[in-house]
Amino acid sequence: MGTLIETTTTFVRDTFASAEEGGHDWFHTRRVLKNAITIGQDEGNVDMIAVQLGALLHDIADSKFHDGNEAIGPETARDWLVSQGADQALTTHVVNIVRHVSFKKNLEGQQWTSRELAVVQDADRLDALGAIGIARAFSFGGHKGHFLYDPSVPPNPHATKEERKRSGAPTLNHFPEKLFLLQDLMNTDTGRKLAAERTAFAHEFYDRFLAEWEGEL
Ligand code: ADP
Ligand code: NI
Repeated sequence: MGTLIETTTTFVRDTFASAEEGGHDWFHTRRVLKNAITIGQDEGNVDMIAVQLGALLHDIADSKFHDGNEAIGPETARDWLVSQGADQALTTHVVNIVRHVSFKKNLEGQQWTSRELAVVQDADRLDALGAIGIARAFSFGGHKGHFLYDPSVPPNPHATKEERKRSGAPTLNHFPEKLFLLQDLMNTDTGRKLAAERTAFAHEFYDRFLAEWEGEL
């Protein structure tokens, strides 16, 4: 028996042993944990235990891979923490972090928040930016069978799921449609600063991709 952080780390790593694609796996969670520790320490005045547990458990059961069932992640987190005899208030807080961390729910208007959620959410978004974010986007696109790029499909952040499917959802469009918008959604000063650096790098990649596409570099 180790600390709750240690046993949770082992639980999450074991759960991800059969990850379904390269963007969501134990190493994504590990990066989010590290980002969250960096941001949490820099911000100060946050419960670092809740931050670490929230980061560890935030993608424990992604609804995308469970027929859109959004309850399964929070439920899995709660079952785990209860099985470990975790403090009740801490358990409730972490379950709320897991429930509210996703990008989609944020767009729909977030009803619950905490300083710790703000940190974990920023840490998760950072992993969609920079070199890692670029790698994850193309891994996701490859997993789905999307094209790298199609000049006949203009980026459209408001495209419906159906429109996106019909257009072949070229992965490069994910940059202006989502990735470049993330920096404006950051909650913390530290998150904003790190996101700005990673977004600048993603812009550089995007511009260079288009130049190389035309044989201009
Ligand atoms: P998370 O579960 O980490 O909150 P998502 O499930 O929305 O985030 O996305 C996981 C990763 O896959 C991110 O790096 C995101 O940029 C990428 N991704 C999501 N949708 C697409 C898409 N349509 N094309 C390319 N990459 C995508
Ligand atoms: Ni995540």
